[in-house]
Amino acid sequence: MKAVEIKKGIYWVGAIDYNLRSFHGYTTPRGTTYNAYLVIDEKTTLIDTVKAPFKDELLKRVSSVVNPKEIDYLIANHVEMDHSGSASAVVEQAGDIEVICTAKGEDFLHAHYPGSTEWNIRTVGSEDTLNIGKRNLSFIPAPMLHWPDTMFTYSASDRVLFSNDGFGQHIATPRRFCDEAGDWNVFGEAQKYYANILMPYSRMAAKKLDELKGVPVDVVCPSHGVIFREKGDINRIVSLYKSWAAGESKEKAVIVYDTMYNSTEKMARAIDDGLRSMGVDTRIFNLRVSDLSDIMSEVLDAAAVIVGSSTLNNGPMPSIGGFLTYLKGLRPRGKIGFAFGSYGWGGGAVKAINQELEATGFELPVEGFQTRFVPGRDALSQSFKRGVQLANQIKRR
Ligand code: FEO
Repeated sequence: MKAVEIKKGIYWVGAIDYNLRSFHGYTTPRGTTYNAYLVIDEKTTLIDTVKAPFKDELLKRVSSVVNPKEIDYLIANHVEMDHSGSASAVVEQAGDIEVICTAKGEDFLHAHYPGSTEWNIRTVGSEDTLNIGKRNLSFIPAPMLHWPDTMFTYSASDRVLFSNDGFGQHIATPRRFCDEAGDWNVFGEAQKYYANILMPYSRMAAKKLDELKGVPVDVVCPSHGVIFREKGDINRIVSLYKSWAAGESKEKAVIVYDTMYNSTEKMARAIDDGLRSMGVDTRIFNLRVSDLSDIMSEVLDAAAVIVGSSTLNNGPMPSIGGFLTYLKGLRPRGKIGFAFGSYGWGGGAVKAINQELEATGFELPVEGFQTRFVPGRDALSQSFKRGVQLANQIKRR
């Protein structure tokens, strides 16, 4: 297990987790990497560590460059355990080491690792720099990207930004750079990552991107997935982040539903036909067979989300409740939509879904509607028309 030099004196020393399939509920069918970076200068500096079970992989990679005892500084950009899980092992090996983090980071370290109260910790903010020899490292607090403690580290002399979760992707490839990643769908995975991890913090992301404008960067080193070093790749990921952070959307609608006897599904297909007849791109997800994190990736840049459910016990199906809870937590901005579904006697799902969509901040320019039992020609025609109406609203925006 060898380190990979990414720029003179800067090495990737992280770990590859091929087997991870869920990252706190977000499905990761392609695994992930925990990226840590070693900077060799007069003072040896490690930026972030890896999840605890991978500590030996980290230490072996460090050892391929330098004895871990020689690490002088550990910069903890973010205390979530996928990055700090091996910090105790590193501190133990190094002995005389200073840990650098934000004030919030120190608080979080103590809450995770009781032994850290004995560590030599220096807290830093945007005004601080750390001289490690030829390099002065600076710090860019980036609260909520992804936790309140998060910061980026920047080496001006190398023009390298260590952006932690920012610009990350869950991909367990042995290839280290975006330009080597071939058909690994780096930008699609970055979209899924943003949608499921960073979407609620889009205002902070937009502010941070603004602050970084004009900062010369040749290499972006996130803490998950591949590294961006080609100008075109850096421009593309930054431009995508700007668009996602601004809540920009395409002429696209996402239809999400659950169905008991396919009545709601028939309505979904008719709504889809209506939207498509107007040239709006669509994605349809039956919640029984679809993954929430994949759906959110599509929701991120869609103008509309339409939610359908059969009525069960006077409300929506349980899967719809789960979807709406997750959606609300991710706080998508500027979306429109409506609810639909079939019912037998009392109904109730459509009303409950509309209420929840409104509570999530959706505008509902098209009236939600329900059909008793099996939709006939009229109900399907109404469904088609609702699709057309919503398409008109999307095109007006
Ligand atoms: Fe990759 Fe928020 O940790």
